[in-house]
Amino acid sequence: MRINIAIDGPSASGKSTVARELCERLGYKHLDTGAMYRCVALKVVNDDIDINKEKELKKCLRDIDIRIDDEGKVYLNGEDVSLRIRTDEISMMASNVSTKKIVREFLVKLQQKIAEEKGYVMDGRDIGTVVLPNAELKIYLTASVEARAKRRYLENKEKGLNSDLQTLKNEIIARDYQDTHRKYSPLRQAPDAILIDSSEMSKADVVEEVMRLAAEYCQE
Ligand code: DC
Repeated sequence: MRINIAIDGPSASGKSTVARELCERLGYKHLDTGAMYRCVALKVVNDDIDINKEKELKKCLRDIDIRIDDEGKVYLNGEDVSLRIRTDEISMMASNVSTKKIVREFLVKLQQKIAEEKGYVMDGRDIGTVVLPNAELKIYLTASVEARAKRRYLENKEKGLNSDLQTLKNEIIARDYQDTHRKYSPLRQAPDAILIDSSEMSKADVVEEVMRLAAEYCQE
């Protein structure tokens, strides 16, 4: 039986990396919902949109086409923006736009449509609570701020992006606060989600743990 797996958690907790690996092992598809909020953020920055003006934001959403291919490449209106959505500026703007109800409604609808076909590992902030409340397996993946900042720093280095550890730490703290305190669908652990704290775990350990849980659920 194919199931849907929801992975939620704070920024840089390793959700996407673990989701990608799980998909490879299970033959499932990955949907990185954060990338969709990042696309909206990039369009907002490119078009110099005032996100507090609902009319402008509505027009921005009307003109947006987001596609993510099977390799995880992200396209905004046909242009490959996979790298451009990963800057610090866009990370913070993604968190800002994600506080807006119309943005959330627009993206949640898209995400639910995609997951109608089972066999998805979807990661984000509100997957287990709002997008896929009936997902068969829900994981809440977290780690200490220090561990997350260090991981993001090493990831950026690998991608050739310049970053500073302390700045990354401050940015993670600011985003954690905004993502958990916003009015609409704040980040929180769904009551039926399984908590995994990966501060002291390797990526492989986390993947093994989720694989073990998925095997249990797939048999039900
Ligand atoms: O997962 P990420 O760091 O790429 O996400 C970027 C921002 O998008 C994050 O700070 C909050 C927002 N987001 C959200 O509100 N809901 C989601 N399901 C995914 C991301």
